Amino acid sequence: MSFVADHIANLSPSMTLAITSQAAKLKAEGHDVCSFGAGEPDFDTPDYIKEAAMRALAEGKTKYTASNGLPDLRKAISAKLLVDNSLEYGPDQICVSCGAKHAIFNALLATCAPGDEVVIPAPYWTSYPEMVRIVGATPIIVETSRENGWKITAEQFEEVMSPATKMIIINSPGNPTGAVYTREELEAIGEVAASEDILILSDEIYEKMVYDETEHVSTASINDELRGITITVNGFSKAYSMTGWRLGYTAAPEEIATAIDTIQSHSTSNPTTFAQYGGIAALEGDPQLLIDMVGEFDVRRQFMLKRLSGINNINVVEPKGAFYFLIDIEPMLIKSVNFAEKLLSRMRVAVVPGVAFGAEYTVRMSYAAGLDVIAEGLERFEEFCRQH
Ligand SMILES: Cc1ncc(COP(=O)(O)O)c(C=O)c1O
Repeated sequence: MSFVADHIANLSPSMTLAITSQAAKLKAEGHDVCSFGAGEPDFDTPDYIKEAAMRALAEGKTKYTASNGLPDLRKAISAKLLVDNSLEYGPDQICVSCGAKHAIFNALLATCAPGDEVVIPAPYWTSYPEMVRIVGATPIIVETSRENGWKITAEQFEEVMSPATKMIIINSPGNPTGAVYTREELEAIGEVAASEDILILSDEIYEKMVYDETEHVSTASINDELRGITITVNGFSKAYSMTGWRLGYTAAPEEIATAIDTIQSHSTSNPTTFAQYGGIAALEGDPQLLIDMVGEFDVRRQFMLKRLSGINNINVVEPKGAFYFLIDIEPMLIKSVNFAEKLLSRMRVAVVPGVAFGAEYTVRMSYAAGLDVIAEGLERFEEFCRQH
C-alpha cells in the first residue's frame, strides 16, 4: 500500500544532481576528483549583483512583492527581451519565478492536462519528461541523431504529431548537447506547430553561451504567428552565475501569462524579494563580465574539442552553445551508468550518464571547470577509454 499518487510514484530523481553530489562526497573525503558534472557556471555571481541584493536587504526590501515579480524587474526583463531578442512582451506578460525550472513547471501546469501530449526531442534536459508527467500529460520522446547535430527536424515532429499534441519543447542552445537551432530550422518547426495550433515552449536559458559566429534566435521573434503560440523561458542562473538565487521567468501570450500568474499566486507567490533586486542589477549591469565569462568558456570548449577528437572509441559533435559536450560512447558497448560509475570509481572523473537525458550510449561532460582540471580529467578519461 502506497500513499504516493500513481503518476508520481514512477518519477526518477534528478540524476544530474545525484552524480555531482557523489563526486562532491568523494572530494570531501580527500579524493582528487576531476568533475565534469556541473550544470552551473564555476564563476561567482558578480559583485555588483550581490551588492544590489545586500542593499535591498539593508533597505528593508524583505516583504512580499506582486506574485509575478517586482514591476521594475518585469520592466527590465521586457526591455531586455526587446533589445537582446527582438521580442515584444509587456511587463504583464512576464512572470518571474523561482528559477527557469519553476517557470517551465508553471507553463506546463497552465497549458497541459491529462490526455495531452508534449513532444520532447531527445537528448533532452532531464527534467522535461518528469515535469510533463507530474502535470498528468504524456511526454512523446523523439530521438535525434548525432548526424543531425542532435536536433529534431520538422519532418520528425510532423511524424509524431497527433490530435492530442499540445506542445513541443525546444531548448536552444541545448542541454546536454550544446546544439543551437538555426532560424530556418526553428521556422520549419514553427510552421508545423502553427498549422495545428500546437504550443512551443522555447527554453532559452543558455542564450548567452553561443560560440563562433553562431546566432541565438528566439523562436517567438520569428513572426507574429509564432509569438502567439510560444512561451519563452529564460532566467538568471547561467548568464549571471546566479543558480542559487532561483530566478527565472516566462514571457507568454496574455491568456497564458495570466494563468501562470494565477498558479504562482496560489503556490509559491513571488520569488525571494531581495533576489529580485539582484536580478534588476544583473540586467542593468556591465555586459563585459558576461562577455569575459563566455570567452573563457569558449577557450575551454575549443581545448576539449581538440582533445576529445583525438580519443579513440568515442565520437563528439562540436557544441555551438551552452557549456556541455555530449560524448557518444556507443563504440564502447557499455551503458552510460556503468561507464560513469566505473569512470568515477577508477579514475575519479565525474560525468553524467546519458540515460538521464534519454540518450543511453552517451555521457555529458560539462566545461564549467578550470582548464587545469579539464586537462587532467581528459588525460584520465583517455586512459579509461583506452583500457576498454
Ligand atoms: C535546459 C535547462 N533549462 C532550465 C534549467 C533550469 O535553470 P534554473 O536554475 O533557472 O532553474 C536548466 C538548468 O540546468 C537547464 O539546463
